[in-house]
Amino acid sequence: MSDLVNEKTICILGCGGFIGSHLLGRILDDPSWRVCGIDLTSAKIERYLSHERFDFVELNVHDTEAVREHVSRADIVISLVALCNPSLYTTIPLDVIDINFTRPLELVRMCAEMDKWLIHFSTSEVYGRTVSSFLPPESRDEADESRYVLNEDSSPLVLGPVRAQRWCYASAKQLLERVMFAYGFERGLRYTLVRPFNFIGPRMDFIPGVDGEGTPRVLACFMEALLKHKPLRLVDGGRNRRCFTSIEDAVDAMIAILGRPETASGQIFNIGNPANEITIAGLAETMIELYGELCPESGEIDLEQVSGRAFYGPGYEDSDRRVPDISKARRLLGWEPRVALRPALRATMSHYIREYRDACAYGKAG
Ligand code: UGA
Repeated sequence: MSDLVNEKTICILGCGGFIGSHLLGRILDDPSWRVCGIDLTSAKIERYLSHERFDFVELNVHDTEAVREHVSRADIVISLVALCNPSLYTTIPLDVIDINFTRPLELVRMCAEMDKWLIHFSTSEVYGRTVSSFLPPESRDEADESRYVLNEDSSPLVLGPVRAQRWCYASAKQLLERVMFAYGFERGLRYTLVRPFNFIGPRMDFIPGVDGEGTPRVLACFMEALLKHKPLRLVDGGRNRRCFTSIEDAVDAMIAILGRPETASGQIFNIGNPANEITIAGLAETMIELYGELCPESGEIDLEQVSGRAFYGPGYEDSDRRVPDISKARRLLGWEPRVALRPALRATMSHYIREYRDACAYGKAG
């Protein structure tokens, strides 16, 4: 029997997604937490549905009154609902703005009104591009770390023009951050903002034609290509860089935040692994190599070049480089990312191979 007196309830909106599915398990490991999880689907969290301290609510966040009801009963609210896939930013920008700004705005208001601590997942994409990416290559100073090591409280947020719709997502997320900051300032909202830097792990995204349609993020795109034995496509030469972060490290950071309400309140945290920076071309090569080790019978797999416009449509621009300054998370949360890129990729790829190999008719073009 759980200790009802000391038990606290966390309401997780979007608990059925990639991050939620990992976070849920770790939170439920602690007997002092009860979780009310809201999502449209429970496919990724089936194993927790019968847990005695977990209540799953199948609900669309557009149903504001129902959301309010669940939030009112919680001590802490974690908001994970998002449309965070770049292929959507240039195709359904209104939905992207609605889900990433308008809906969570309601939630921010509710939490301010009811005095709930709101932990909201924003994005590393709020940093946009590096300032010098707008300069001609000969005038860029590649050695100047201050142009790409991004600090939560001092780095500028550099987005492209409105016509470049790629940035509608980052703008929506940024405005919500500003609204939360203002609610903290004027109305005493207790909030914590998390800026994830390319979390990777089992259960992220989907494989097109198997459990979803459209274009997922790069890791699932490359996995689909590997599993179907098609070329991995490099957008604009694959020269842009990302810091891929193991979901294990990401969840550790969340647990550290939950354990430090006073310290974490009113803070923005970069959660990412600066040591795992790699170009997308480098990622493709590493994944091909690892796939060869995991599936030795796979044979040769090629790369294919594609322009951003051809891949994503008009309005596509890209973040060139984003490296998190994690000194604040280290100092205030005692957090340190531990999982290097190769083991993180190996764990993720092994999961995809196990789950999707048959459905992708492994080894054949699909
Ligand atoms: C996305 C979201 O916009 C962020 O909000 C989110 O925080 C981030 O993912 C994340 O996972 O944390 P992005 O890194 O641009 O941002 O997403 P991906 O779709 O994974 O693209 C990464 C890079 O790979 C881009 O340069 C893209 O052009 C490239 N790419 C993608 C390829 O070269 N080939 C592909 O098949 C797919």
